[in-house]
Amino acid sequence: MKPTVYITRKVPDEIIQRIEEHCVILMWEKEDMAVPRDELEKEIQEVDGLFCLLTDSIDHSLLEKAKRLKVISNMAVGYNNIDIEAAKLKGITVTNTPGVLTETTADLTFALLMATARRLIESSRYLSNGEWQTWSPMQLTGQDVYGATIGIIGMGRIGAALLKRAQGFDMKILYHNRSRKLDLEKNFSMTYVELDQLLKESDYVCIMTPYTPDTKNLIGAKELALMKSNAILINTARGGIVNEDALYSALQSGQIWAAGLDVFEEEPVALNHPLLTLPNVVTLPHIGSASIKTRLQMAHLATDNLLLALNNQTPKHVVV
Ligand code: DGY
Repeated sequence: MKPTVYITRKVPDEIIQRIEEHCVILMWEKEDMAVPRDELEKEIQEVDGLFCLLTDSIDHSLLEKAKRLKVISNMAVGYNNIDIEAAKLKGITVTNTPGVLTETTADLTFALLMATARRLIESSRYLSNGEWQTWSPMQLTGQDVYGATIGIIGMGRIGAALLKRAQGFDMKILYHNRSRKLDLEKNFSMTYVELDQLLKESDYVCIMTPYTPDTKNLIGAKELALMKSNAILINTARGGIVNEDALYSALQSGQIWAAGLDVFEEEPVALNHPLLTLPNVVTLPHIGSASIKTRLQMAHLATDNLLLALNNQTPKHVVV
């Protein structure tokens, strides 16, 4: 008998075709709306596999309802949406999709850094609003990227891909990580520093670390106070790593110069969120990995993981 799989969002047809060769598929058919909790609670009960997204909260109480779930395949590298301990206790395999999104996410991080530094969104709006009356010496002036100091917090795959882009702009590279990356230090001009030093010396502070209990609110009022007044904070990792109230105060008071945010504590971020009212904040709707090629690769990798686990083989990327 084929195993049954629940897919929590409408995925591309080529993914459905691959899964239905081996499984019976149940799917939340909408593309732009997350599966409601009560629906997920109902569906999880009798399935063998779950193909889910970072928008789905796979918590303890949900897993309690699963009677025969064998694998949770998350189509994301981050897995903070899943209660890993609860899954482990129930003997459920959890998988993720690292690697395939590394370069695309690093591209977006650097693009957001540049857009924030050079006020691209604000300038485009200035033009389309008809405010451009003349060229003037200090009009819409931003910060230089070339030759500036970048501080990368979290030197995993995406942090390392970001550092290559920074090197191309002759930036001075500081990094902070749980452990030193001596292999990278051999090949790149980069310096390991404590977090406080990174915050004090960087023109650009980029958050590239996973979201865990240890990194929740890693950047709060105390950390923002260490940053330079011309500094720019870029977050393409997870919203909860930066305390949003503290960030708002730091941006509003001019303690730091600007922020570029692709991620928020609550997503989608509310349109009346204070951070969205500030001119020195560039905001994006969590599009770090959003290239066609990468999103398809993520979906295929999540499918590989799912099918391997259902076939009692070791998935390509196992979290637990
Ligand atoms: C992830 O995979 O965790 C990203 O945030 C979305 O691509």
